[in-house]
Amino acid sequence: MKKIAVTTTGGDAPGMNAAIRAVVRSANFAGWKIFGVKRGWWGFIENDFIHLRNGDVSGVIARGGTILKTHRCPLSRTKEGMAAIVRNLKKIAPDGLIVIGGDGSMSAAYEVSKRCAVPVIGIPASIDNDIAGTDETIGFDTAINTALYAIDKIRDTATSHERVFIVEVMGRSRGFLATSVGLASGAEIILVPEIKWRKERILKTLLSFERRKSSLIIVMAEGAGSSEELASYISSNSKIHVRVSKLGYIQRGGSPSVDSRFLASIFGYEAVRLLKGGRKNLMCCWVRDRFKTVPIDYPAKHRKKLDRKLILISEVLAGKKYE
Ligand code: F6P
Repeated sequence: MKKIAVTTTGGDAPGMNAAIRAVVRSANFAGWKIFGVKRGWWGFIENDFIHLRNGDVSGVIARGGTILKTHRCPLSRTKEGMAAIVRNLKKIAPDGLIVIGGDGSMSAAYEVSKRCAVPVIGIPASIDNDIAGTDETIGFDTAINTALYAIDKIRDTATSHERVFIVEVMGRSRGFLATSVGLASGAEIILVPEIKWRKERILKTLLSFERRKSSLIIVMAEGAGSSEELASYISSNSKIHVRVSKLGYIQRGGSPSVDSRFLASIFGYEAVRLLKGGRKNLMCCWVRDRFKTVPIDYPAKHRKKLDRKLILISEVLAGKKYE
């Protein structure tokens, strides 16, 4: 009987449980033994894994987070750590490993695939949607809707007090989440790590809006700079009333949306089908509404492009004056 393993690594994302469910149900349907490795790569280092049967994933499709837990594992980036992971992987699941996680997880999965013959399949899951090769990652749609729900509420109080709000969203190095939720929430300004900006110019834009709008929202990715410093500059150099609201970790939780559950279910099913077909070292992708695969090292070798036009469109639709 074939033995495979599934694990969730890196930052968690809503929909990871739906993906685990799809992998477990598909593996059991194939008559294979499926092990869930706990806490990402730590589970391989410490041999912390459980045999998963269909009943173990009942009722998880609607739950945020991951029943397997996930921990950041710096040890996986060391020679010794990787050797321990590979050694235990070959013992636990010689017939396949399915890794559910973000871009760092895909790179680690690639490193594992280079060090042993165990076939590896990656399932992209991250609220950042920053993984090259796939149009969308599991969790992204849920996170932007969570952020949108919050920003719409902030807009109410901003309008009542005629204030500017800087809403900081997640995205340590990429601005996909900020751009999508900025456009959807009608933000007047969107700040992302990919595009340099000057505080003087932000103030000038705010002042050009101010007399015509009773509230202004700046959506700022956490990696785009300091929301507090920008707020203090605006307050010290104008009569504008500014407040900062950091959405933080609510963007990582919650019941996964239809999109996130859909991606998770298709990716989980297809990952097992790829292993059954003798395929290996690939990442599941969703491209123009179709399932595709790329080599597992594709995200490590390519940088997903941010469509800057979306930011321009958002500013025009928010009523920015032609310059
Ligand atoms: O990668 C997803 C993400 O949520 C980023 O947007 C965020 O900056 C980071 O993880 C936070 O990492 P941690 O959960 O380790 O604090």
